[in-house]
Amino acid sequence: MDRREFIKNSCTACLSATVIGTALSSCRATKYISGTLGSDGLFIDPKEFVTTQNGKTVYRAFIIVRNDTLQYPVCVYRFNDNEYSALWMSCTHQGTELQASGDRLQCTAHGSEFDSKGAVKTGPANKSLRSFPVSVSNNQLFIDMRAI
Ligand code: FES
Repeated sequence: MDRREFIKNSCTACLSATVIGTALSSCRATKYISGTLGSDGLFIDPKEFVTTQNGKTVYRAFIIVRNDTLQYPVCVYRFNDNEYSALWMSCTHQGTELQASGDRLQCTAHGSEFDSKGAVKTGPANKSLRSFPVSVSNNQLFIDMRAI
């Protein structure tokens, strides 16, 4: 193996390890659930947001509800025990399904970005995401989807 080939192989191996590590950490960070569908909306156990990090209990910033009866997933952000937002993950520009990343929802089609309350941060979309009222009672979150 000559020097050039060695460097090329080493860089490929390093890049592969980085990509795989990033992909695995992304998978670990995003939690998908199906929720429980009622006649007026979705029920979610708030414990779905709980996870552990270095032995400590922490809360996920968001979870994604995805099931066969929903045309698009719903991203549910947790701000505190009583404040949540539930956002329809359909880009308001041309309807592409959004990707959640931290406190942003991003569109891979033309680059629009939305914040965790659904407001447009980067166009070309110019309309906020559809959001649903979230209420907390009896240790359950209820996402009212009657407006779909
Ligand atoms: S469909 Fe999302 S930016 Fe165009």
